[in-house]
Amino acid sequence: MKNLKIIEFDEIGKEGTGYLTAIESNISIPFGIKRVYYIYGVKNNISRGFHAHKKLEQILICISGSVKIKSTDGINEDMIELNTPTKGLYIGPFVWHEMYDFSDNAVLLVIASDYYDESDYIRNYSEFISYRKF
Ligand code: TYD
Repeated sequence: MKNLKIIEFDEIGKEGTGYLTAIESNISIPFGIKRVYYIYGVKNNISRGFHAHKKLEQILICISGSVKIKSTDGINEDMIELNTPTKGLYIGPFVWHEMYDFSDNAVLLVIASDYYDESDYIRNYSEFISYRKF
């Protein structure tokens, strides 16, 4: 699906002494970083998201635990489980996404290309379909 892809990050270190993963703006990811936020404390029966963005690009990384992400461009649908700190999911503009099945203690880190702007959100699915450009 356009504007949806997995990005693998390097794991530096070894078993026992532990690992480190670094993410550099415009190098490990295809945009400059303006905002970082994280989602945590989500009960297993709760789904979040249910929106798309007009311009925003984001990378979702489940740095602890696991979570499932269902995405659609209005035609194609994809389900991806994020369950390791080395796997990122790039979500670009006009991808409707839902986050669900959070494990206990899941922490979903999100790296974003811009500041928070409610006017960039499309929160209504039929409006999303009417906006759809691909
Ligand atoms: P929202 O993006 O709807 O969360 P989710 O997609 O995970 O369901 O945001 C939830 C609330 O948090 C909403 O009131 C907007 C606010 N918010 C900020 O203030 N800053 C941010 O960077 C984000 C992402 C959300």
